[in-house]
Amino acid sequence: MLDTLTIRTQRTTASRLQQLDPERLEFGKTFSDHMFVVDYRDGEWQDAQIVPYGDMPVSPANSALHYGQSIFEGMKAYKNTDGDIALFRPYDNFRRFNASAERMCMPLIPEELFMQGLSQLIRVDNAWVPDAAGSALYIRPFMFATDGFLGVRPSESYRFVIITCPVGLYYNKPLRVRFEERYVRSAEGGAGYAKNAGNYGAAMYPTKLAQQEGYNQLIWTDASEHRYVEESGTMNAIFVVDGKVVTPALSTSILDGVTRRSVLDLARDWGMPVEERKVSAVELMEALAAGKLEEAFGVGTAATIAPIAVVGYQGQDYELPTPGTNSFSTRATTALHAIRTGQAPDTHNWMVA
Ligand code: COI
Repeated sequence: MLDTLTIRTQRTTASRLQQLDPERLEFGKTFSDHMFVVDYRDGEWQDAQIVPYGDMPVSPANSALHYGQSIFEGMKAYKNTDGDIALFRPYDNFRRFNASAERMCMPLIPEELFMQGLSQLIRVDNAWVPDAAGSALYIRPFMFATDGFLGVRPSESYRFVIITCPVGLYYNKPLRVRFEERYVRSAEGGAGYAKNAGNYGAAMYPTKLAQQEGYNQLIWTDASEHRYVEESGTMNAIFVVDGKVVTPALSTSILDGVTRRSVLDLARDWGMPVEERKVSAVELMEALAAGKLEEAFGVGTAATIAPIAVVGYQGQDYELPTPGTNSFSTRATTALHAIRTGQAPDTHNWMVA
């Protein structure tokens, strides 16, 4: 990416990098030294800068805190075997960010500002990109309202920020999940396809209830009948049923996941049938009983591919087959890792240096 935008950079005089233990990278806990910040005022983006990571003052009356005008993205940068750094499908995240902004009545961010902010920030903090197997630099772009005004209307001013943190594996073992048949993550016509903060806040209570019952996450079902799978926790859900890769079709209630898209592309590359359609809990449980549910896993940026080991359905737990080295999810995990670290050809041009 070319540097064409002036971004004022103020470097930290007290790097925290030496305090980082690369063997213990807890998701979202330790942030890199710098962050990118740009403000939207008087109808334009202004004062783009890279500054030391730190707290920022906000008006106690801002509409992000009161009415949820707050959106984010999750993406990753990887170090390849030559030590070069590349981002995985950043333009997909950029486009989805603006789709979320439109849904939440927030200003769109120009492509150049998003991409330049990102690439210049990663360059300044390049030493924070880890290289251990399974690790990456998680990148969190976000935008929030900044007007100090309690009236219920879209804010007129906003702040866009990018922070980053080195991360390892999100889940260290296969998941126990259960179908959620009471609470709803999102309904058709809602904002489930957007990455707005409220989607995540509203999911916490039902998730906490499931965790108290010993599950890691939920499989969300549709709002009107609780019959069809929506997502799994904060991930998209993919199943292998009788040799076919099956996943819920995108809708206004399902996030258009970048990892979902990539895994489906790999399946198509490998000649596997891919079905994007409604997938009911009953269909999956019948397939499991008939020995045809071969795999179930969640896919997302933070977790990449998270196999599901146990599924709870109507008060009973069912064990799923353990993915072997030849299973689709294992091969997809290996293939994605190889593409991201430059060990396999990037035939889809997913990586951006
Ligand atoms: C991601 O995978 O980037 C997500 O959005 C999950 C995150 C909320 C931890």
